[in-house]
Amino acid sequence: MNHLDKLYQAYDNAPEIFHASRYWRAYEADIIAQVKTADLSELRSGKYPLFSTFGFNDLVHYYHPSMPFYVRMIRKLVRKLFIDNRAALPYSLRLEDIREMAYVHCVLQGELAAAAPISSIETSRFGKPQDLFTIDGKDYTVRFLNYYVRYCFGQRYAHLKGDETIVELGSGSGMQVEILKKLYPNLTILCFDLPAQLFLCEHYLSNVLGADQIVGSERNLALTGLSNLEKGKVHFFGNWQFPLLKNFAFDIFWNAASFGEMEPGIVANYLSYIKGNCRWVYLMQARNGKESAGNSGVVQPIKFDDYGAMLGGEYRLVREADAYDAHRRVSQTGGYFQALWQRRA
Ligand SMILES: C[S@@+](CC[C@H](N)C(=O)[O-])C[C@H]1O[C@@H](n2cnc3c(N)ncnc32)[C@H](O)[C@@H]1O
Repeated sequence: MNHLDKLYQAYDNAPEIFHASRYWRAYEADIIAQVKTADLSELRSGKYPLFSTFGFNDLVHYYHPSMPFYVRMIRKLVRKLFIDNRAALPYSLRLEDIREMAYVHCVLQGELAAAAPISSIETSRFGKPQDLFTIDGKDYTVRFLNYYVRYCFGQRYAHLKGDETIVELGSGSGMQVEILKKLYPNLTILCFDLPAQLFLCEHYLSNVLGADQIVGSERNLALTGLSNLEKGKVHFFGNWQFPLLKNFAFDIFWNAASFGEMEPGIVANYLSYIKGNCRWVYLMQARNGKESAGNSGVVQPIKFDDYGAMLGGEYRLVREADAYDAHRRVSQTGGYFQALWQRRA
């Protein structure tokens, strides 16, 4: 049995509360099928639009790869003639201007947070990112910069020194972990996610950070406790292994664009394993809940106030604000917040 099948076998045997709920069930079969056949060296090229649902989204979004060939060619030509070379966007903007502004936004956010500077790291070329550009000799994508902005929000209050332990649930592509580990190589990070997403995240991070930085999910499958964690490494776990965190002391719990896509009972269950164990809780979610329709989206949207209520009196809200990517507001339709709660002394 291969690695992914082993993860799915353990996931299938886990209690129902750890299974994907309606929002993600809709993608599950397609994601598994695509992970099994995809050329993982092209994860970020735009060849696999489904993977962009959980973070492999380093695209300029000029065109959708599934468009007919002739539409793509026409759009490519229009782009060459009117966008790449001339300022065809409002306020005389060119693509390079947007990228540069995104970078400058990161520089300023970094200064505001007394954070490690964006100029000290760069993205990897692994996965052939479509949106690759260079500033001061370093490679970036706007997607990579977005995760730096999130780090700055956390850093402004949590003041990472570099030897902390962070738990991320729903790591998706793993790009947040990439940013954190590139800035602070000694961090210990535990990533939990659904099987196919975890598998891709592990593949991506072993390539961009190095296999020696990773303790893989296959090795962790049989783990019954966390007392022998290797400090300074990134550890991968299936989301159903979350109960391992009961009574495990750590510094920051991180969940971005993930809780909002679950149902309230599932989120409350996850929180029950970490509440009180960590000093900080970072959340970035849809402020008024994710979309919910008759038989699609979430069944019961979770709103900003619901998170505070679920965290309870043990945590106090330190700061919340509308969430911004490097180049724009996160989700121009729904509106996202990012917020940090601190455990009361
Ligand atoms: C939109 S992606 C966000 C990924 C990443 N945090 C980011 O900001 O790019 C949502 C993530 O939540 C995870 N997720 C969804 N339902 C889950 C569940 N019931 N348990 C654990 N993780 C779940 C997905 O697998 C995915 O990695």
